[in-house]
Amino acid sequence: MQIPDYVHHTRLRQWVEEMVALCKPDQVHWCDGSQSEYDALCQLLVENGTFTRLNPELRPNSYLARSDPDDVARTEDRTFICSLSKQDAGPTNNWVDPRKMHKILNGLFDGCMRGRTMYVMPFSMGPVGSPLSYLGVELSDSAYVAVHMRIMTRMGRAVCDVLGADAPFVPAVHSVGQPLEPGQADVPWPCNNANKYIVHFPEERAIWSFGSGYGGNALLGKKCFALRIASNIARDEGWLAEHMAIIGVQAPDGEKTYVTAAFPSACGKTNFAMLIPPPALGDWKVTTVGDDIAWMKVGDDGQVYAINPEAGIFGVAPGTNVESNPNAMATIARNALFTNVALTPDGDVWWEDMTPTPPPALIDWHGNPWTPASKEKAAHPNARFTAPASQCPSIDPDWENPRGVPIRAFIFGGRRRNVMPLVLHTFNWPYGVYFAATMASETTAAATGKVGEVRRDPMAMLPFCGYHMASYFNHWLQFGRALSNPPRIFLVNWFRKDKDEHFLWKGYGENMRILQWIVGRARTRSSGVEMGLGRVPTYADIDWRGMEDFTPEQFEQVMSIDTELWKQEILSHDELFMKLYDRLPKELLSVRDLLLSSLWSEPEWKDRQE
Ligand code: OXD
Ligand code: MN
Repeated sequence: MQIPDYVHHTRLRQWVEEMVALCKPDQVHWCDGSQSEYDALCQLLVENGTFTRLNPELRPNSYLARSDPDDVARTEDRTFICSLSKQDAGPTNNWVDPRKMHKILNGLFDGCMRGRTMYVMPFSMGPVGSPLSYLGVELSDSAYVAVHMRIMTRMGRAVCDVLGADAPFVPAVHSVGQPLEPGQADVPWPCNNANKYIVHFPEERAIWSFGSGYGGNALLGKKCFALRIASNIARDEGWLAEHMAIIGVQAPDGEKTYVTAAFPSACGKTNFAMLIPPPALGDWKVTTVGDDIAWMKVGDDGQVYAINPEAGIFGVAPGTNVESNPNAMATIARNALFTNVALTPDGDVWWEDMTPTPPPALIDWHGNPWTPASKEKAAHPNARFTAPASQCPSIDPDWENPRGVPIRAFIFGGRRRNVMPLVLHTFNWPYGVYFAATMASETTAAATGKVGEVRRDPMAMLPFCGYHMASYFNHWLQFGRALSNPPRIFLVNWFRKDKDEHFLWKGYGENMRILQWIVGRARTRSSGVEMGLGRVPTYADIDWRGMEDFTPEQFEQVMSIDTELWKQEILSHDELFMKLYDRLPKELLSVRDLLLSSLWSEPEWKDRQE
């Protein structure tokens, strides 16, 4: 194997040699991250049948891939946190003894890259050289992964300069798990559906992934590193690695306030991150720092500073359109990769709800002819687009600022047809942590096949926290104590419905009105009224320009707090607490009791209006 002369890192050179000896690839390709390398790999993927080049006039420099029909999403049941002690992984993670898991993986990886090329990808999560960034090196036998890593991370030669001779890095090895015998023809989407393992060794800070070529299972910088491993590093070093979008909210006077938003998967986080205010609120503006992950440290001034560790957007395609997210549509107009969407006869892409009426004929995500009369969906519900974040029209000028951006508010919100009001400002840090820890969302068909089931998803981190969830709550409480100016913690719920299942709130751009209130409260704490659960806006506190037909009665409905439902809700928090009881911080039980007692004396919301 020829190691490029710009690689001076002794341990990296050794590790790659060890992995080559284990995986036995035919060739090793050290990625330099250049445009010419990216173009050549895309061309190779076209020749292998993995990629279809899209019509360059409609979608320049863009490609479509169709996955194996059984390799279409993250596989949470095959994802493992192999800490030395089972207790450290906690009851919400799958655990196997790390010695046993290493044995399993050594067996699976032995010769797993035969007939393939191993791509060596040094990458930086966060701007190259930022004090908030961390480095990794992914080895993968998938060129599809290599081109995606170039979009999703800062990948290539520049990272080797920062690695120097001995900088720490997270080793991440990935194989599709389908070696080729001499002369054996490849398939467009190699994978190993019988044997998937997405494995994290928190103490070693190492990742091993086998059998899947899809998304978070294979692009190891994202969920595996930036959340599961990084949450461990963050706990040890006193910072936060969170499943949050980061946005800037610019007021008419030019003052900008940065906030983060943690929404469980399938709650419109990418749409929120790229929100365009309605025309009547055109004097306000939202800018995008990140759409999925935030890494946050305490600055010298006691404030929280956040970076987006990623460089690209890996978004769910179905439902994305010029109404729901015009900025996303512009982001993917060129230099974009698509997986499991449909192909139009003129060589462009389509997915459900991209246009009000579907085209008369398509090739669906299986590669079969499709018409609007077909029973199956044209695109898989978890079909994805991948594009550089820099192409997003709302990208914030400071999105790559190595110091990060100062955060004034954390917003948490799931999908709840009832119980949760449109917006609530929690009283203080421990109350905020309580509400974030007990956050829940109703499942959608795309996620689980079961619709409307309430699933607790603490901090939107249930599938992503790399250690015991209750220790993570404790870390949050601890983190708040280190802050002289803690971000204020808010809850939102865009998905409230009436008894006939009609949404009570339009959402999308209209969420700007709620953001305005949040930003105002985070800065001056001057509006709203106090309720038993926290502070809420009155009708008069919201900017209704352009939405004057929304009545105080409608607002009351979407803000209402049903005391009986809330008593049940708080009791159901106990199910989560019971599961986590061995490490549950005592503060959470105290807050629960205070909330219960204040609910008993809760006045009607309308009586609180001034
Ligand atoms: C994602 C997710 O893909 O949260 O970002 O599932
Ligand atoms: Mn996510």
